[in-house]
Amino acid sequence: MSRTPNPTIAPIERAFLIGLDVQTQPQILGLEDSLEELALLADTAGLQVVGETYQKITRPDPNTLIGSGKAKDVKDFLEETLATVVIFDTELSPRHQRELEALFGEKVKVLDRTALILDIFAQHARTREGALQVELAQLQYRLPRLTRAWTHLARQAGGGGGRSGNGGVGLRGPGETQLEADRREIGHKIAHLKREIEKVRAHRERHRRQRQRTAVPVIAIVGYTNAGKSTLLNALTGEVDGVLAADQLFATLDPTTRRVNLPQKRPALFTDTVGFIQKLPTTLVAAFRATLEEIGEADLILHIVDVTHPNARQHIEAVDEVLGELEVGDIPVLLVLNKVDALDEAAWVAAETHLGELVGEAVPISARTGQGLPGLLEAVERTLYAELSPLDIVVPYSAGQYITMFHEQGLVESTEPLAQGLRMRGRAPERVAARLREFVPTKRSTRKAPTKD
Ligand code: GTP
Repeated sequence: MSRTPNPTIAPIERAFLIGLDVQTQPQILGLEDSLEELALLADTAGLQVVGETYQKITRPDPNTLIGSGKAKDVKDFLEETLATVVIFDTELSPRHQRELEALFGEKVKVLDRTALILDIFAQHARTREGALQVELAQLQYRLPRLTRAWTHLARQAGGGGGRSGNGGVGLRGPGETQLEADRREIGHKIAHLKREIEKVRAHRERHRRQRQRTAVPVIAIVGYTNAGKSTLLNALTGEVDGVLAADQLFATLDPTTRRVNLPQKRPALFTDTVGFIQKLPTTLVAAFRATLEEIGEADLILHIVDVTHPNARQHIEAVDEVLGELEVGDIPVLLVLNKVDALDEAAWVAAETHLGELVGEAVPISARTGQGLPGLLEAVERTLYAELSPLDIVVPYSAGQYITMFHEQGLVESTEPLAQGLRMRGRAPERVAARLREFVPTKRSTRKAPTKD
């Protein structure tokens, strides 16, 4: 599989993983499962995992995190396995990073889960906004960690040759070190990226407002990475090539939106979002807020779970945690158990036991075979239109889009042409009704249209 080259990790580097059981920190996944996931992340980033170890600690060592004895063991492992990348399954402080780099030597890169995820994000961002957000998150992550391992990146990020070398005319004061120059350059770059992101956001905002005017409900598809979100969007829209579905983590980094007709022919917009993962650093959630903001504006959230995964329940919890951070508590959520085609009877029973009470409210589907999709769309429609508000309005003929809105988004029970507009009676979801209420007539204005003799 071809991968875009990127500055952090060359494709066939050998990586050594270190899991950490910090007894004071609660974990969603167990140590081994978390390390397994880290290995999958490393694989997705194009690294070859050549070994792993873990360390139980009660208190992180201020210098080496894992303790100097263990750190020396790791150094031996690295030499034995010829690994040039060490990845910690936890966030490293800048100090730990510096100390460990000094210990492992020039040839070894010390990364943590966040740096690895950022690297994968950088490979997968497909829109301009996605790419800008990743670059910003990468620079913000690197700034406090700027040591020899990262300084070359500052030069690459700057793009213009010579700015951070000796010829950095006008940019550096006398006696300023390379590190300080690099820091300042990254600072400029961060400010520039923030401005660019603002521009892209403003543009996106205009689009969003346009969409709101039509009042088509938006359904955000969320879920743990690899749950089958893109496959579901493809299945719903009958597209095969439209959205990338790949057995790799984070195939989707930018939302993709598609229009789908619900069973009663009312349209809805389904939007695919970035896959979540446990230990998704808060800084990353913040970096992707604009992308995730789409979720906050949804009328309904479809939470997709890979029901075949042994850690399905933990995945659900990790996603709920991120949703909690996004403060979207007032949006209804439908839990969708995907990949049921891959479950035999016994596996189903095991999954049911594992998920417990969650199964009762969930909709089972297979995005791959299409099994259960009609039921899913019905559940979506039912939830969206669960509570309808009665309406009796007169829409001027010049405001035809509102007539369409009521027909598409509500249940129109009767229409009657009047002089001043079309009288429409029926019911609509509150979201739509709120917009249509401006057409509630005053008593006198509901006279019949004059009939011609
Ligand atoms: P991210 O982009 O990482 O968040 O992934 P995603 O949730 O969009 O998952 P995607 O649709 O890329 O699917 C991940 C893998 O699961 C692919 O190999 C799919 O073919 C597979 N898959 C998706 N749905 C089903 C299903 O219903 N049954 C089976 N057996 N496999 C499925």
